[in-house]
Amino acid sequence: MKLLVINGPNLNLLGRREPDIYGNRDYAALCAHIKAAAAAEGIEIDIMQTNHEGVIVDAIQDAIDKYDGIVINPAAYTHTSVAIADAIVAVDIPTAEVHLSDVDAREEFRRISFVTPVCTLRVKGLGFDSYSKAISDLATYIRAKS
Ligand code: DQA
Repeated sequence: MKLLVINGPNLNLLGRREPDIYGNRDYAALCAHIKAAAAAEGIEIDIMQTNHEGVIVDAIQDAIDKYDGIVINPAAYTHTSVAIADAIVAVDIPTAEVHLSDVDAREEFRRISFVTPVCTLRVKGLGFDSYSKAISDLATYIRAKS
């Protein structure tokens, strides 16, 4: 099984960005955490980060026939992007929505997610463990389906 992890805008600034919300560990530490979680599940994984919405849409489209599942933290685009939601529907690849913070316990606008209705599952509020749980739960879903 092969998964693609897509990280959206400003996640590259983990560690210095609002540490009270996102913690002190940096983006390299997040990637190491994701790789360890995938290895524990015996899953191949690729990880990318971009600050650009269209690059995320391209990555979702390019996942066709290459990946069994997608784990995505669309970051701020969660709350705005019809294009990313449409791409997830278009490729029809099982997709997990992930957030480090509990988006439902923050500002009102973060309660809106365009991707939740089109994703297989959602994990939020567990910090780095949101990613490990999403990888594990998505793998379970994909294995059950095939
Ligand atoms: C985030 C939550 C979003 O609301 C925010 O814009 C982010 C990160 C999270 O992982 O908690 O950039 O997706």
